Amino acid sequence: MGVDIDQAFVQDPQHRPGLSITQAQGIPLIDLSPVTTTNPCPSSMDALVKEIGSACKEWGFFQVINHGVSIPLREKLQEASKKFFAQSLEDKKKVSRDETSPSGYYDTEHTKNVRDWKEVFDFLTKDPTLVPLTSHESDDRLVHWTNKSPHYPPGFRDIIKEYIEEMEKLARKLMELIAMSLGLEVKRFEEFFKEQTSFIRLNHYPPCPYPHLALGVGRHKDPGPLTILAQDDVGGLEVKLKHKTDQEWVRVEPTPNTYIINVGDIMQVWSNDAYESVEHRVMVNSEKERFSIPYFLFPAHDTEVKPLEELTNENNPPKYRPYKWGKFLIHRKDSNFQKQNVENIQIHHFKIA
Ligand code: OGA
Ligand code: NI
Repeated sequence: MGVDIDQAFVQDPQHRPGLSITQAQGIPLIDLSPVTTTNPCPSSMDALVKEIGSACKEWGFFQVINHGVSIPLREKLQEASKKFFAQSLEDKKKVSRDETSPSGYYDTEHTKNVRDWKEVFDFLTKDPTLVPLTSHESDDRLVHWTNKSPHYPPGFRDIIKEYIEEMEKLARKLMELIAMSLGLEVKRFEEFFKEQTSFIRLNHYPPCPYPHLALGVGRHKDPGPLTILAQDDVGGLEVKLKHKTDQEWVRVEPTPNTYIINVGDIMQVWSNDAYESVEHRVMVNSEKERFSIPYFLFPAHDTEVKPLEELTNENNPPKYRPYKWGKFLIHRKDSNFQKQNVENIQIHHFKIA
């Protein structure tokens, strides 16, 4: 990535990371044993639902332990991911994303029109995944996205698929807890995910000689309802604090075997702003490479995203106009590929003034 930094990676001065990290109180750590052990006592369930609710409200981010995901399986995927990215660029490009399916390898993602210092491998939960062909409102044509099949490392696809099953289980439990915390029926969210557009991303952040100028991922909010992230022991993820203090960003220190959970834009809309999607970013490191694995829970393409009826009333009318998730997704896909001069699509574009 050259001695002189490619200007495409350089953040505007106000968005450059501060290099000295002062550690404020971290995001909440929540024990999920009441939903991962058999016969939990009802009072521990109630306490858990309360904890989830206040973490979603106050932070938008939290970590979980006793989450039920197999640690050896997670390690197996982390090892496979390392091996995949250690290949030559030429070999990785054999499974590049292309015009017909955005899954696979690529290293040119832009966040807010600045290039991210990272490379990724994306893999869809459902193969094939049904999505609109274009983002145009009046275009009804649909297409299938499919996954790529890397030959190296051996068994890569199977490991990813096995891991995705675990992510789906954990996501279901978390969505049930969130539903309860909002006073909704436990299975309220289930209908949106019968067909889904979820995917898993393997991130590799190579060492970067310009950690003061570039970011691994620029500040952004996740567009779906929920993200489940595994980070390694290097660190770099920062979350924007909701409540003003003398500090703006807080580092999420790596804690072994935990997952980092955050609510995204769709949860903000569904909950009519009760749970807000929070900005986050990834700092790069001049010496160490870093790996992370987010699982993005996304609903079916034909989901009409709007505040839930149960959570709105005369005194709290819907704050958003409905939008079609599939169209939003295609819009984002088209704009994350290249630098553009306009802001990409955001939920605030659907906000009712
Ligand atoms: C993302 C993201 C965080 C990380 O890919 O959307 O926020 O730590 N990643 O890699
Ligand atoms: Ni993110």
